[in-house]
Amino acid sequence: MTEAVRLERDGNVAILVIDSPPVNALGAAVRQGLAAGLDRALADPGVGAIVIRAEGRTFPAGADISEFGKPPADPWLPDLCNRIEASPRPVVAALHGTALGGGLELALAAHWRIALASARVGLPEVSLGILPGAGGTQRTPRLIGAAAALDLMISGQPVGAVQALAMGLLDEVVETDLPAAALALAQRLADTGAAPRPVRDRRDGMRDPVAFEAAIAAARAAQANARLPGPRRIVDCVEAALLLPFDQGLAFERAAFAELVASPEAAGLRHAFFAERRAAKMPEAAVRPRALDHVGVVGGGLMGAGIAHACLGAGLRVTLMERDRESLARGLERVAKLQQGAVDKGRMTETQRDAAWDRLSGTTEAAGMAACDLAIEAVFEDFDVKTEVLRNLDAVLKPGAVLATNTSYLDVNALAAVTGRPADVVGLHFFSPAHVMKLLEIVVGAQTAPDAVATGLALAKRLGKVAVRSGVCDGFIGNRILSAYRQAAEYLVEDGAPIARVDRAMRGFGMPLGPFEVSDMAGLQIAWARRKRLAATRDPALRYVAIADRLCEAGRFGQSTGKGWYAYDGRKPVEDPEVTAIVAAERAARGIVAQDFSDDEIRTRLLVAMANEGARILAEGIALRPSDIDVVKLFGYGFPRWEGGPMHWADRFGVLQLKQAVERFAPQAPGFWVPAPNLDAMVRNGTRFADLND
Ligand code: CAA
Repeated sequence: MTEAVRLERDGNVAILVIDSPPVNALGAAVRQGLAAGLDRALADPGVGAIVIRAEGRTFPAGADISEFGKPPADPWLPDLCNRIEASPRPVVAALHGTALGGGLELALAAHWRIALASARVGLPEVSLGILPGAGGTQRTPRLIGAAAALDLMISGQPVGAVQALAMGLLDEVVETDLPAAALALAQRLADTGAAPRPVRDRRDGMRDPVAFEAAIAAARAAQANARLPGPRRIVDCVEAALLLPFDQGLAFERAAFAELVASPEAAGLRHAFFAERRAAKMPEAAVRPRALDHVGVVGGGLMGAGIAHACLGAGLRVTLMERDRESLARGLERVAKLQQGAVDKGRMTETQRDAAWDRLSGTTEAAGMAACDLAIEAVFEDFDVKTEVLRNLDAVLKPGAVLATNTSYLDVNALAAVTGRPADVVGLHFFSPAHVMKLLEIVVGAQTAPDAVATGLALAKRLGKVAVRSGVCDGFIGNRILSAYRQAAEYLVEDGAPIARVDRAMRGFGMPLGPFEVSDMAGLQIAWARRKRLAATRDPALRYVAIADRLCEAGRFGQSTGKGWYAYDGRKPVEDPEVTAIVAAERAARGIVAQDFSDDEIRTRLLVAMANEGARILAEGIALRPSDIDVVKLFGYGFPRWEGGPMHWADRFGVLQLKQAVERFAPQAPGFWVPAPNLDAMVRNGTRFADLND
């Protein structure tokens, strides 16, 4: 026994209670405790049945993810499950909370499964790049058939206890007092001398082999082009459940699991899992947030309306402010449309929509914002426009109200300085569409009070968003790296790489769109305005690519104007000879001879540009840790999750290799390709970015 598991006794029932906060993950101590407890229970002739249940918020939420990739400790979860299943006396698993992954597999190894109605069960391994590796792929289809089992494992989505009962995954669901109900069931089994009922011997889900094979074939076809191998391997394993004897099926599953868990994609997904949770651990998280019930949003454009809709959906009261009645009406109309869209997609009921609408008010006067606990300006990205709004808000907001700016590039300290309450000013950088994108950059100014930051974090949690703390710099974490990425992409184009080739290479890496496609989608105007703003202070020695300026001068502002880096056939980008001519002219004007770049070389340059800028952001203390940079890129910019983010990528690439690559690229743009100042020491000390996360 270990402290993580205790053995209790009630009459002729032995109860194994797992107690390993926070989520009772099946780490070595829990597995050892369960194995020892099982042995002791079975050694006792007075025990007629065994219950496995958990203390705290949940039945085990899975294997301990932090153990993956490390040397295994005995007993292995699959072996433990087999030992439970082989128990000569009936075993009952009592599920509450979220019985996920290895937790559900543990329950499937028991002979009876009883759950609280509020419990959710699932096999989410696919989201970690792996598959259920403790018998889940073999036992689940035996109970519920191939179609339902595949759906559970390939979607990774948990289902509620009642649905799981209907599927045949559970035997009983109770509304309250799960421990008592599980005990009663076990006592009944013990008293009646019921025989164990191992899932390995059951064929409930295999009565119709034709339907089983049809489900396999359909899933295999659907996953034929999937980017990651996990779903395909799940299909293979479920097929093996039908074709092979149980033990060989388990061995088949084990081999597939071992192959997947060691893959770089699975390592990237595990990194993303922990990085997301680590991001919330900012110093201000320990501080009590200010009251947050009523949010003011200034600006009813796409961004403002999206923020308002998200806040309303989270139960907050919202006041939307616009400069005149017409703009306000348009803003409110946008919110109404977003709400209706949510209803149409089944994300909101009509009753919820009506209640949300009732929490919304509008104003054209700053005075109408006086009651807000937090006001977010989401007006045009221009220093003068934003400072005017902030000044007006400062004049009316109650003391202690948080004043947030949604700027994407401007200096939050300079914005805060125009108010009389810089300690209350914080940057809350939402990503468009604000009600969809999960990222929120919380930009902390030199004078921002810790409880103003904590309030931003509380808002993020309320909205179900992932918050990342950033210091103040041009573009903060996300857009600053985006600028470096675009810069490197433009160098490539001017040096000879076709625009579509660069986009294709990055899509090949896993980005949903390439840099120029994104630029066309977002519009070229804001970056153009920013370049003009920074022109006076730009380092003249830095290589400057003027292609984007030429595009803007030609009225090519991206998709909204029907042309940008590409011409548009509807929404489909097509290469445009006019752009090719602009690029050729710029190249000729600078005396550049076009070179050929392979897709690999393109990817390396763009990823190195991102990682090097990320390293610089770390050196300057803008980001708290490398994994925060990864989270920004994963949740705000479409960086492929299985690659873990640019800093995780850099660890795989190698810190020395990163520095050497920057040096190799330096002749292309000497002022741009400069190794980040912290790389030397990292190389010398053998430090990886992952070492700086904790
Ligand atoms: N292993 C290790 N740590 C885990 C964990 C796991 N399986 N699940 C959660 N945790 C940790 C989190 O990292 C977090 O730690 P910190 O407090 O130190 O940040 C803590 O538990 C609480 O987690 P959340 O913040 O996510 O809490 P939540 O209440 O929002 O969500 C949850 C709870 C739904 C269980 C969620 O944590 C979750 O989805 N966990 C992962 C479930 C999963 O993928 N299980 C399958 C694992 S793989 C497997 O089991 C393979 C196999 O077949 C052998």
